[in-house]
Parts: sequence; C-alpha cells; structure tokens
Amino acid sequence: MAPDVVEDDSLSAARVRAAALGCPAIEPRVGAALRFLATVLRARAVVEIGTGTGVSALYLLRGMVPDGVLTSIDIAPELQAEAKRALRGAGIAPGRTRLIMGRALDVLPRLTDGGYDLLFVDAARADYAAYHDEAVRLLRPGGVLAFADGAGLPELVRGVYADDRLVPLVITDGMLAAAKV
Ligand SMILES: C[S@@+](CC[C@H](N)C(=O)[O-])C[C@H]1O[C@@H](n2cnc3c(N)ncnc32)[C@H](O)[C@@H]1O
Repeated sequence: MAPDVVEDDSLSAARVRAAALGCPAIEPRVGAALRFLATVLRARAVVEIGTGTGVSALYLLRGMVPDGVLTSIDIAPELQAEAKRALRGAGIAPGRTRLIMGRALDVLPRLTDGGYDLLFVDAARADYAAYHDEAVRLLRPGGVLAFADGAGLPELVRGVYADDRLVPLVITDGMLAAAKV
C-alpha cells in the first residue's frame, strides 16, 4: 500500500484557495500521477486545460525538467491570478509558466503541432471529447494525454480507445491516459 501523498505549504495553500473559490483541485494521488508522468517523459513542454488555483500546475512543474515550460489555459481570470500567486509563492520562476486566459477550444488551435510532451485536461467534463483531436495533434510521438475523471465519460472513453494513434490506459482515480504512437 502506497503511503499518503504529503503536500507542502504551497500546495496546501493553493488547495485551500481552490475550496474557498469553489474550484475543486485534483486529489493528491492524481497530483502524484501527474508528477510521475512528467518525470518519466522528461517533460519540457506541457499543456494544461483548467489552471484553477494552480494545484495541478505545481505537481506538473515539479516533475518537468528544471527549465521546462507549462502552458496553462483557463477561462476564469480570478482563478489564474490565484494560480500565479501560488506558483510565485512556491518559487516557480515566471519564465516557466505561460498562463493563457481563454476558452481552451479557442486557444488550442494556436499551439504548435507535435510541440508538447504531455497534455492534461481538468476543465468542464462536457467539453472533453472535443479536446481529443486537438490534443493528439499537439503531442509529439510518445507524448501523453491525460483526462482527470475521464474514465467516467463513455463518449470520451469510446473515442480514445478506438483511436489507433493512441495507446490508452485508465490510471489512478479514473484518470484516462493515452500515449501517442
Ligand atoms: C476543476 S478546476 C481545475 C483545477 C486545477 N486543475 C487544479 O488542480 O488546481 C476546472 C477549471 O477549468 C476551467 N475551465 C472550465 N471550462 C474551461 C474552458 N472551456 N476553457 C478553459 N478553462 C476552462 C475553470 O475556470 C476552472 O478553473
């Protein structure tokens, strides 16, 4: 049995702000899985949809290579402002994050084909299936796509498992992951 994930003051503070603002942060187990994925991929360029108050961003950045850059998208400016505070408070250099305010489906088409090692989705579940194709386009071969709670979404699961460009796997807490062939 794995020990519980212990969060430091930066993560705890971002989690408290998330609860206060009604924006649920990822569970610590999911954070540990994101950090693991970013580490094994030696991730240098990551996209996140759903910045929230920055809990998942902190886990991702702690797995990425030291000069890796996280591009994180959110429609809510007040949440991104909180995330920015959390990241600076945790000692993350400004150059390591690119926080983009906007609707993910408007922002993703502006990002570079094959330019990313990992793409993490944690936004409105109803939009997940619409991110599938854009996400595959953005990943390099061997890159990984991960949807928080994605295993509970039948349309998304069907689409990802039927896509022969992807090797899918359900990992911790119902996170649906898939590696690009
Ligand atoms: C569950 S919260 C993200 C929590 C964050 N990943 C964390 O662990 O701290 C979902 C976020 O998705 C954002 N969001 C919802 N729909 C979106 C969209 N279409 N494009 C970009 N962001 C969106 C919300 O504003 C909210 O901040």
